[in-house]
Amino acid sequence: MQVVSTNISHILQNASWIRRMFEAGIELKQKHGADSVCDFTLGNPDLPPVAEVGRTLRRLAGAVDQPLALGYMPNAGLPSTRQRLAEYLAEEQQVPLTAQHVVVTCGAAGGLNVIFRTILEPGDEVLCPSPYFVEYGFYVGNYGGKLVPVPAKPPTFGLDLDALAAAITDKTRVVLLDSPNNPTGVVYQRGELEALAALLWDSRPRLSNDRMTPEGGGPTGRDRPIYLISDEPYRFLAYDGVEVPPILPLYPFSVAVGSFSKSLSLAGERVGYIAVSPSMPQADQFVAGLILCNRILGYVNAPVIGQRLVEAALGATVDVAIYQSRRDAMARILRDAGIEFALPQGAFYFFPKVPGPADNRVEGVSPSDRGQDARDTMDDLQFCQLLQDELILAVPGRGFGLPGYFRLTYCMDEAIIRRAASGFQKAADRARAGRKRKGPGSTLDT
Ligand SMILES: Cc1ncc(COP(=O)(O)O)c(C=O)c1O
Repeated sequence: MQVVSTNISHILQNASWIRRMFEAGIELKQKHGADSVCDFTLGNPDLPPVAEVGRTLRRLAGAVDQPLALGYMPNAGLPSTRQRLAEYLAEEQQVPLTAQHVVVTCGAAGGLNVIFRTILEPGDEVLCPSPYFVEYGFYVGNYGGKLVPVPAKPPTFGLDLDALAAAITDKTRVVLLDSPNNPTGVVYQRGELEALAALLWDSRPRLSNDRMTPEGGGPTGRDRPIYLISDEPYRFLAYDGVEVPPILPLYPFSVAVGSFSKSLSLAGERVGYIAVSPSMPQADQFVAGLILCNRILGYVNAPVIGQRLVEAALGATVDVAIYQSRRDAMARILRDAGIEFALPQGAFYFFPKVPGPADNRVEGVSPSDRGQDARDTMDDLQFCQLLQDELILAVPGRGFGLPGYFRLTYCMDEAIIRRAASGFQKAADRARAGRKRKGPGSTLDT
C-alpha cells in the first residue's frame, strides 16, 4: 500500500548521508556509551543562547497573561522586529533598507522555501557551487525546480566563474551562494562576488537576444531576471579578520537570507529573515509575493517569542573565539594525522580530503565511480568506515555532492575534538596503507 507520494517515498529510501551517519552514531553510542563516541556529523550549535535571550524570555514570561500576548501577527513579522532588523541589516549590508524590504521567516530554511515558492516555475534551474548544503536540493525540488551543482575550485573551493557562466541557460532562475560555506568553510571574496554579479548582469541581454522563447513558450529570459541569493546563517562566524562582503550592494536582483540559529544559538526557535535589495525593480511585488508565500506555505508567521528574542538580542553573538579555538584544535589534529584540508575561513565545518596514496584519488571522483582497479583504493565511504572503527563519526563528501572528501563539524566541546586525535591518526595511517575496515558488515553500505 502506498501511504506516501512516490517522491517522498523515494526521498525516504535515499536518506541523506548526514541522517545515515546520525543513525549509525546512535547504534555506536548504544554499544560503546555516548561518551566514547566522537560525533562530528550534525551542525547543531552547542553553546547556550546569548545572555540577552534569557533576560528577555523571563521578561516575556512575566507579561504573558495579556490578551493576544502570543497571538497571530502580520505574515511578514512583528512590525517592530522588521524595523529593528531593517536598521541592523542596512548597516551590515551597506544599503538603505527599510522594514518593507525585510520579511521575518522560520529560519533561513523557511526563508529559502518562501523565496523558491515565490519565483520558481516548474523546470527552473538553481545553480549552486558544489559541494553544497544537501537540503538545497529538497528546497528547490519542493516547487518543481532543479538544483544544478557547479563544481567550486579545490583546494580552496572558491567560485569557478567560468563553470558558472557555462552552466547558465534560459532556465536559470537563481544562483544560490552560501558564505561562510557549509560544508567547506570558504568565504567568497569581494572580487569573486563582483565578477559573479557582472556575469549575471551581462547574462540578461545574451539570453534575451540569443534565445527569445524557451521551449514550451513559457516566460522568457528577457522577462525574467536571474536572482543572486546569498544564504548566510554563518555570516557572523568568520575567523582571522576575514571579511564577509555584503551581497545586496552588488546586484539589483540580489536577496540575502539569514538566521539566528547559529549567531544567537537559537536553532530550535526558528527565526530568520529575507532582505531584498532596495534597488530591485518591482521590489514591492517581489516582497508581496514573499509575504503571501510565508502564509500559504503554512508557516503563517515566524514564532512570536523568537521574534521578540531576536529583536532584543540583535547585534549580540555567541563567542566566536570559542569556535575559532575549536577550529584550531581540529586543524592541529588533522595536520598531525597527515590529512589535507583547506583551513576554514568561517562557519564550523572542515571538508578534508580522504587520505591515501596520492595516486588513489582523482579530484572530485570517487574510486567506486572509476572502475574495479580504483575500487581497491580508499574512497570517502570507506574512510568514514575506518573512522567509525575508531568511534569517530564523519559524513562522506558524496553527501554534499563531492566524493573523495569528508565533512566534520566542530560545534561541540573542544575536549571531544582533542579526544579524537589518536583515532584520526590511526584511521589515516590505515587509509595510507590501503587497508579497509576491520570488522564484517557495515552501517554505511550503499
Ligand atoms: C548552509 C545552511 N543554510 C541554511 C540552514 C538552515 O538554517 P536555519 O536553522 O536558519 O533554518 C543551515 C543549517 O544548518 C545551513 O547550514
